[in-house]
Amino acid sequence: MTKGRVLSGMRPTGRLHLGHYRGVLTNWLKLQTEYECFFFVADWHALTTDYESPKGIRENVREMVLDWLSVGIDPAKTTIFRQSHVKEHAELYVLLGMITPLSWLERNPTYKEQLAEIRDKDLHNLGFLGYPVLQTADIIIYKANKVPVGVDQAPHIEISREITRRFNNFYGPVFPEPETLLTQVPKILGTDGRKMSKSYNNAIFLTDEPKAVEQKILQMVTDTARKRRTDPGNPDVCPFFITYHNLYSGPDDIAWAREGCTTASIGCTECKRSVIPKLLADLEPIQARRREYERAPEIVDAILKDGSRRAHEVANATMHEVRRAIGLE
Ligand code: TRP
Ligand code: SF4
Repeated sequence: MTKGRVLSGMRPTGRLHLGHYRGVLTNWLKLQTEYECFFFVADWHALTTDYESPKGIRENVREMVLDWLSVGIDPAKTTIFRQSHVKEHAELYVLLGMITPLSWLERNPTYKEQLAEIRDKDLHNLGFLGYPVLQTADIIIYKANKVPVGVDQAPHIEISREITRRFNNFYGPVFPEPETLLTQVPKILGTDGRKMSKSYNNAIFLTDEPKAVEQKILQMVTDTARKRRTDPGNPDVCPFFITYHNLYSGPDDIAWAREGCTTASIGCTECKRSVIPKLLADLEPIQARRREYERAPEIVDAILKDGSRRAHEVANATMHEVRRAIGLE
């Protein structure tokens, strides 16, 4: 617990899948044993894009936190909270908004990309442009030293560092500059061979029943050039192999699958069946823990409440410093 403070957040997207687990959450699990961690639900950030239809937010927050707890994010070690419960984030966001040049936000690659790509929503709103400013407030209000994020979020942390420097230059050294901890995400492909994503409808969810997991795996695309059982295949272009053998098989099983595939001595079903029990065994303790939490549903609210109280103590102390530095207090 001496290595400093880590903070990260996720927008409440509801139930999480294997991609979240093997990418983000496995990393969080490791970090929570090494650092003082704050992990939070970025529910205000969800509204930057979903402001027209926020109905599902309550349920999505709950489902996502249940998944965090189920994989082993431990409220005794880690502060788990909800952004909108700690109002100080909003106050700091207003103040950072005063010093953030529009040009920094307009040139943000994530902003430009999403503005161009997302067609079903109007994103020409202040909240969406200011997304990285709110994210900066989330981070520096806890004086976090390290921020674990995927490569897609790295530009946001760069903006955060710039805003932090500017604040410290104007008002004095209140904040440490947060560093990016780039999460190495293994390539987790969905059943259609594309990147696993809820919106592609190709995901294996942590909550999927064993039967459903089995079915999804058996239906998953393989080397599309391997049309018949007698055709040899190429594991290096097989989405199933790339993701699931690499995740779950030891060197011997990988060698067996590679050999069997390239010589057509095994079929895809046999190849997949060699992995399914290991995948199910990985999910089993997660689902067991989830059942425990679901037996006492009020516990999620209690954990969020307690986490928000702890977060608020830190955020509140920082805001006194911030107001004093600017001359507001
Ligand atoms: N933007 C992040 C995402 O979409 C979520 C987030 C909000 C975040 N505030 C943060 C992540 C602060 C790290 C630190 O995943
Ligand atoms: Fe993929 Fe295995 Fe089929 Fe080869 S045998 S194409 S590695 S699923």
